[in-house]
Amino acid sequence: MAENEYGRYTALVRELTEKRDTPSLACVHSYGCQQNVSDGEKIAGMLSVMGYGITNDINNADVIILNTCAVRENAELKVFGNIGDLKHLKEEKPDIIIGLCGCMAQQEHIVEKIKRSYKQVDIVFGTFAFKEFPKLLYTALTERKTVCDITEYKADIPEDISAVRGCKYKAGVPVMYGCNNFCTYCIVPYVRGRERSRRPENIIAEVKALVNDGCKEIMLLGQNVNSYGRGLDEDIDFSELLRRINHIDGDFRIRFMSPHPKDATPEFIDTIKECDKVCKHLHLPLQSGSDTVLKAMNRRYTVADYMKTVDYARSVMPDFSITTDIIVGFPNETYEDFLGTIDVMKRVRYDNIYSFIYSKRSGTKAAEIVDNTSEEDKGKWFRQLLEVQREISTEYYKRFIGKTMRVLFDGKGRRDGMMTGKSDEFIIVEAKGDESLIGQIKDVRITDSYNWAVHGEII
Ligand code: SAH
Ligand code: SF4
Ligand code: F3S
Repeated sequence: MAENEYGRYTALVRELTEKRDTPSLACVHSYGCQQNVSDGEKIAGMLSVMGYGITNDINNADVIILNTCAVRENAELKVFGNIGDLKHLKEEKPDIIIGLCGCMAQQEHIVEKIKRSYKQVDIVFGTFAFKEFPKLLYTALTERKTVCDITEYKADIPEDISAVRGCKYKAGVPVMYGCNNFCTYCIVPYVRGRERSRRPENIIAEVKALVNDGCKEIMLLGQNVNSYGRGLDEDIDFSELLRRINHIDGDFRIRFMSPHPKDATPEFIDTIKECDKVCKHLHLPLQSGSDTVLKAMNRRYTVADYMKTVDYARSVMPDFSITTDIIVGFPNETYEDFLGTIDVMKRVRYDNIYSFIYSKRSGTKAAEIVDNTSEEDKGKWFRQLLEVQREISTEYYKRFIGKTMRVLFDGKGRRDGMMTGKSDEFIIVEAKGDESLIGQIKDVRITDSYNWAVHGEII
């Protein structure tokens, strides 16, 4: 959309909200990854400029936006369940506007299903039509008809939209959008388009503003953060970007999510070590510990390549924390393949894993494979994997006892009088305290470890 159209429709909606006797409210609910949460904050930013107050209370909102995720079937089922629940609200209050956007909305078969069976939805817009939102909202408000835009526009980075952020002390900052990797199981390249990087000066300006505003943790976001920089005029890679952000004055720490193992060079690991503000934690998605499965997944590394990176990281930072993503039950995975994954888990000793049973995504290459592995086996292996990781975490977390961890507190603990936060290593740390700790970084001396967290005392 031409810039002036975006501005014109934003102003038109604003005129409508200003005419109302009561303040207009909007609720944006984001599912899925941090990137999507970040998009949701920008949608809230647009709504705020259009005159809406932002609320978390769906029942009081005039505009409800569901910003969806398509990565696994479960994610989609959750959204369909939530849209189903909104039917009653729409019947009670026919004037509310319900919008669906994000990764699910970029898929034609989903949009067809919404149009057919979920008439309570007024607006559908895909990830490319981000800046069409004011126009769609204006049309829905004035013409009371269902509007939809899932066109693949030329990739546009929305630099001029300021976010309404959900948290003051932690912020996600996208550094690149899209993905070129086409792992055979994954829908992301189809719904998010090709890789495009933000200009470094825009990223740095955003981080500086956040830090000046008191933000304590910056999470740099991208589907493949360490391929940052390709296609920019300037010769810059992710390591250089990390160094420049590390240079920014202030008391804050830097994380990033997710690097791809194929791009995890020794220079990248050295940069993490050298930059004092960068957390000594690497989320390095393995997906599988079998070379056969990795090849079928199109991951472009072998187990040996992956282990080389891990061994190098541990040789320069012995306490370095590593977490991962694992898929169990890729089509035709065998028990031997699965045991390869268990073997890598034991060799790496992950601090934590995020594991998923393979979910068939229509439109991907893997969806075409005739799968002979039974769902029953997949479920059994999945439970075995969780059990192995529980043992690894229980044992490995003991290395922190007696040490001091820097913790950013973010919520109440499971037990009364306890608060929890995340350490630089991305470990959950529990300590005695009250809610005034939330948003503060404290040094905590570790005294005990469990399989899900460590416990300590604030120094
Ligand atoms: N870009 C990131 C991951 C994005 S999706 C990366 O490459 O690591 C987050 C995780 O969801 C993936 O790491 C993978 O483990 C999981 N995932 C993606 N597609 C999946 C599918 N079809 N079934 C099961 N898990 C999947
Ligand atoms: Fe999906 Fe692979 Fe891209 Fe990650 S790198 S988003 S898993 S295609
Ligand atoms: Fe989901 Fe889209 Fe993120 S599919 S994981 S919300 S990029």
